[in-house]
Amino acid sequence: MSVLLTNIGELVTNDPEHGAGLGVVPRAAVVVEAGRIAWTGPATRAPAADVAVDLGGRCVLPGFVDSHSHTVFAGDRAAEFAARMTGEPYTGGGIATTVAATRAAGEETLRARGQALVREMLGQGTTTVEIKSGYGQDVATEARMLRIARELTPETTFLGAHTVPAEYADDRAGYVELVTGPMLAACAPHARWIDVFCEPAATTAFDEDEARTVLLAGMRAGLLARVHGNQLAPGPGVRLAVEVGAASVDHCTHLSDADVDALAGSWTEGAAGTVATLLPAVEFSTRSPYPDARRLLAAGVPVALATDCNPGSGYSSSMSFVVALAVREMRMSPAEAVWSATAGGAAALRRDDVGDLRVGARADLTVLDAPNHLYLAYRPGVPLVHEVWKDGAQV
Ligand code: NIG
Ligand code: FE
Repeated sequence: MSVLLTNIGELVTNDPEHGAGLGVVPRAAVVVEAGRIAWTGPATRAPAADVAVDLGGRCVLPGFVDSHSHTVFAGDRAAEFAARMTGEPYTGGGIATTVAATRAAGEETLRARGQALVREMLGQGTTTVEIKSGYGQDVATEARMLRIARELTPETTFLGAHTVPAEYADDRAGYVELVTGPMLAACAPHARWIDVFCEPAATTAFDEDEARTVLLAGMRAGLLARVHGNQLAPGPGVRLAVEVGAASVDHCTHLSDADVDALAGSWTEGAAGTVATLLPAVEFSTRSPYPDARRLLAAGVPVALATDCNPGSGYSSSMSFVVALAVREMRMSPAEAVWSATAGGAAALRRDDVGDLRVGARADLTVLDAPNHLYLAYRPGVPLVHEVWKDGAQV
């Protein structure tokens, strides 16, 4: 059965056939068939379909692609957030609180939280989400997190190397051996990606050599690489991500010229390089300086935007909020921010079937109670999502 979505005020396709950037078609229509986009263009030229749906002049976008989240966990850290708002710095030390709660929680508690957050995201227009482990930090709990995540999304990431758990505080090498040995063996079957939190030595995270060891072991096990890098301080994460051919390096709060050059250079030989994924809800929730998006864009680096939804550094599941922050705080244009929240996220996940509305793409779309995409930043905090379609069906 084919469905014609018509009377679309503004259609964002991210399809170069409809122009650079967002590939916007005014007064548009879309034909959906068998869960995929079959046709897009001006409504006046739309082909016939079995069923027609009038969208009342609303704006239609590709569903948001949230390429970075930690949505399987237990407990909360609201008190830690409140302390930060009155001056405490964010160090990542609170991750241990969530590890303790996640280890203690039963499987059903973890599953229920994960399901609720993914439902919350879907209702806000996010049709593809990546979910990481990293709050287990033992073999059984990491594997449990990933099994649950796999029920929720195909984009699952093994982040055993998030922080070093207390029982290994005096044996970091022993923890890296655990992560790259038995933990990887138990987790790889449930994961698509390997990730590591890489920061300069003497932080809660992993230094360059440790992080390289983790990434290479994951890649040998068949996983693709992505990195948490340069969040807390300038450091080796960005360049390590480029060195191993990671699909994305996430946070990028502290960037050197060499980091930006390395990212730009990763895209020069026609191959897919390393996307810079910016997570401004984290800077918002940790009162940190925002990443320099303009510098990345000026250098030609593809930029993605994601929530990083997690109980510590930023507990927002809203891609609309992230778009508004990117525009207000990082000086991205609304068009750049919407591209980064859709096509950019797809690039960061190396997916060519989501993030745009080209013919053949998955029919994942977000209908806004707004005439155009500018409203996402122009009306921050307002729930503008009218309805969401995933795989060609309204959810
Ligand atoms: O992406 N940076 C490391 N990990 C998470 C935060 C996790 C937490 O604080 O619970 C992040 O920001
Ligand atoms: Fe994260």
